[in-house]
Amino acid sequence: MILVTGAAGKTGQAVIKALVARRQPVRALVRRDEQTQIVKSLGAKEAIVGDMRDATTLRRAAQGVHAIYHICPNVSPEEIRIGKTAIAAAREAGVERFVFHSVMHPQTEAMTHHWNKLRVEEALFESGVAYTILQPSSYMQNVLGGWKAIVERGVYTVPYTVEARMSMVDLDDVAQAAAVVLTEPGHLGATYELAGPEVLTQTQIAEILSKHLKRPVRAEQKTIEAWTLQARASGMGEYQIETLLKMFRYYDRNGFWGNPHTLASLLGREPTKFERFIKRTMGQVTNG
Ligand SMILES: NC(=O)c1ccc[n+]([C@@H]2O[C@H](COP(=O)([O-])OP(=O)(O)OC[C@H]3O[C@@H](n4cnc5c(N)ncnc54)[C@H](OP(=O)(O)O)[C@@H]3O)[C@@H](O)[C@H]2O)c1
Repeated sequence: MILVTGAAGKTGQAVIKALVARRQPVRALVRRDEQTQIVKSLGAKEAIVGDMRDATTLRRAAQGVHAIYHICPNVSPEEIRIGKTAIAAAREAGVERFVFHSVMHPQTEAMTHHWNKLRVEEALFESGVAYTILQPSSYMQNVLGGWKAIVERGVYTVPYTVEARMSMVDLDDVAQAAAVVLTEPGHLGATYELAGPEVLTQTQIAEILSKHLKRPVRAEQKTIEAWTLQARASGMGEYQIETLLKMFRYYDRNGFWGNPHTLASLLGREPTKFERFIKRTMGQVTNG
């Protein structure tokens, strides 16, 4: 049995699908009762409802599993504490492998949520638990958050320069890589950067969207003020806003790109290009 934490989120759901495709029994840790339905429909064998900040919940969830895939809630101020609690639960339960869903470039102190993941990685090194660390770049799926404006108004907005260079990765590729390291030998003690196969500016992303939507799409920079107002109106917490603003400022200065070779090696194929991801999203091609 493999425990997946953060299981009802977008990463968790993708990882469950990839594990179920390999006929692996999955126990899903979800926060709310109604999320058990979501993970069960994806093929999870068991679902446990509980708060990841609670050590008893993590201990209960870790009982009897041979591996854990730990996904921390997005931009959590308690990422380090949750990570350490999950590692302790794995150690107590004698879990054979702990795979941590980290992020590309966790060494970046300027991005708090990246830096926090580095601290969790450090705790893993010191824990004595057999581990693998995956460090994905930002997901191509994030573009879908602005899909309505792309399709209806032909505008793809980002709160940083449209010339920022990114090597976005397909979350489905990340999930397949997760399934590989969870089920195949040879990955203990490894730290793998998972970047997409192309380094694209936001303008180039808009060009690809234009081509496949068969309508002009332009990349536009949203001001930090406009983004913050919208985030507050949507109910986002101040910690999350401040942390994401740091990330946008970092992207604005440096972009966010890495190297795809490790992901290609894990998948045994070239990682998915943005163009193929968009075609798949529009139902023009199947996955793979
Ligand atoms: N998005 C990216 O491009 C990207 C790239 C690299 C790494 N990552 C990392 O991937 C991780 C997951 O991101 P995501 O976008 O998949 O997140 P997400 O969709 O927000 O999913 C997080 C899940 O955790 C649940 N959750 C929140 N607080 C919880 C708690 N206290 N106890 C138990 N469950 C709780 C959420 O439930 P509710 O629905 O109830 O809130 C949700 O189901 C994050 O650590 C992020 O940093 C993301």
